[in-house]
Amino acid sequence: MPHPGLTAVCKNFRYNPDAFSSQLLLILGHIHGCVVNLPLVQFPRGTSSFQAVNVNDKSMVMKRTRVISLFDGISTGLVSLNQSGIIPDIYCSSEIDQYCLKVQRFNHGDKIVQLGDVRDLDSSALKQLGQIDLLMGGSPCNDLSLVNHRRKGLFDTTGTGVLFFEFLRVMLYLKNKSEWEQRQFFWFFENTSKMEMKTKETISRYLGCEPVKLCSSVYTPMKRQRYYWTNLPVSEQFLTESMPNEVMELQDLLCGSGRTAALKCLPTMTSNLTNMVKGGHLPVYDGNDGPSHMYLSELEKVFGLPVNYTAGPNTPLAERKKQLAKCWDTHTINHLLASFKSAVSFSTQV
Ligand SMILES: C[S@@+](CC[C@H](N)C(=O)[O-])C[C@H]1O[C@@H](n2cnc3c(N)ncnc32)[C@H](O)[C@@H]1O
Repeated sequence: MPHPGLTAVCKNFRYNPDAFSSQLLLILGHIHGCVVNLPLVQFPRGTSSFQAVNVNDKSMVMKRTRVISLFDGISTGLVSLNQSGIIPDIYCSSEIDQYCLKVQRFNHGDKIVQLGDVRDLDSSALKQLGQIDLLMGGSPCNDLSLVNHRRKGLFDTTGTGVLFFEFLRVMLYLKNKSEWEQRQFFWFFENTSKMEMKTKETISRYLGCEPVKLCSSVYTPMKRQRYYWTNLPVSEQFLTESMPNEVMELQDLLCGSGRTAALKCLPTMTSNLTNMVKGGHLPVYDGNDGPSHMYLSELEKVFGLPVNYTAGPNTPLAERKKQLAKCWDTHTINHLLASFKSAVSFSTQV
């Protein structure tokens, strides 16, 4: 049986068969295990007209931005937009995890348009959403990550790695549509930097650009290294030059008196919280109770989220940890959004 996403891919042919054909044949070829040797379209990266952007500049509140967030998790994308002074006209979220959906509803109510399973997001559903200015998403990384020795990779249709192609499909549809309508359209795709080189190269080939590698530790006291593929006008140089001068101290993010940071920087957080133990030491020393894990409220602050953001309507602790382990830190996304703000024409936004 074909991957459900393929049904939707094929429907896109109706929209503009010519523009889709080469990319689609490659996708189909790979998923079905046969090689279709067609060149991929190379998308030009943005130019360098973004140099003057101040990441912390919230003076310009942008409106009318229309956003789709695939694999939206707990909508950290929407938190980042708001923190960056971008109040979207419409924020459409594709997510299927029931706990994530509860957290989304709890924090954002009806500000989010729910799209459901990305595999059901066909061209007619996309068409109904009208103009989209920004597409973002980070598909599940468990089947791509080197950490998982039983990973299924990018092309196994029984795994989650193949969901990358759903992002590609939606991105190509929206890009194609925006070109027909002669307007700007931006996107970024995030995933773990701990993936096989060949997986990185394949994703780069399909998306038409190399990723930039960013680590959360330049913004917040936590290691979290990720790849970001994007058509936003970012470069390693831009990101390096516009880095914040000072990183927040772990100590300043601890809640309650008597808690002392035992580490400068937290190791990468995964769903297994024991990873927060470095060299056998817990990250915090609590005067009353001795060595201590980070509280969830403290971790939320490290990720740039409001305290109790993941609490939702009685979300179990284990689920809150899982959500944090896979979510974006908003500091990094804010940095990418700074380049989005610079790239869109302010005069048409406010
Ligand atoms: C790496 S997480 C993304 C987290 C998100 N960026 C955040 O900051 O919270 C991947 C998400 O994809 C979701 N997902 C998996 N399959 C999906 C599907 N078929 N349609 C939509 N979302 C899906 C998972 O539930 C998970 O929340």
